[in-house]
Amino acid sequence: MKIIHVFSAVTLAALAFGCSKTETQQATGQSAAQLVEAKSAFEARCATCHGSTGKGDGPGAAALNPKPRNYTDKAWQKSVTDEQIKKAILMGGAGVGKSPVMPASPDLESKPELVDGLVKVVRGFGS
Ligand code: HEC
Repeated sequence: MKIIHVFSAVTLAALAFGCSKTETQQATGQSAAQLVEAKSAFEARCATCHGSTGKGDGPGAAALNPKPRNYTDKAWQKSVTDEQIKKAILMGGAGVGKSPVMPASPDLESKPELVDGLVKVVRGFGS
């Protein structure tokens, strides 16, 4: 009897460990998936102007004045907070006292994870 008890305790411990390990993997998988989603949203919504490499040289940028923000500009990266970037994304240029050509994305109000992901993408170009 005693041996069986010890055995089941070990089995339970192993199961519990197994579960928590799976949860951690899922959490990492989720944020990786979010970043992938944010990158494709960037390509779809932002790269036309800001460029696939974030330099503000997308095909739609040539005709624009002022030019779309160049995210690789380290001085700009330092000057702006994540909150300001979020606000620019949600409210557009007009909402933050910048060029109204920079479009608002009010549909993202209901997708805060995607907005966070876009901020990460924008920050990623600067590092
Ligand atoms: C139609 C072209 C266009 C598109 C599409 C566009 N932007 Fe912009 N964006 C601009 C322009 C132009 C500026 C510069 C405004 C200025 O400096 O007055 C700008 C500025 C910005 C800024 C800088 C704001 C600041 O405080 O300096 C951020 C951040 C930004 N855009 C993010 C994005 C993101 C993220 C997307 C996609 C969801 C996007 N933009 C889509 C044209 C665009």
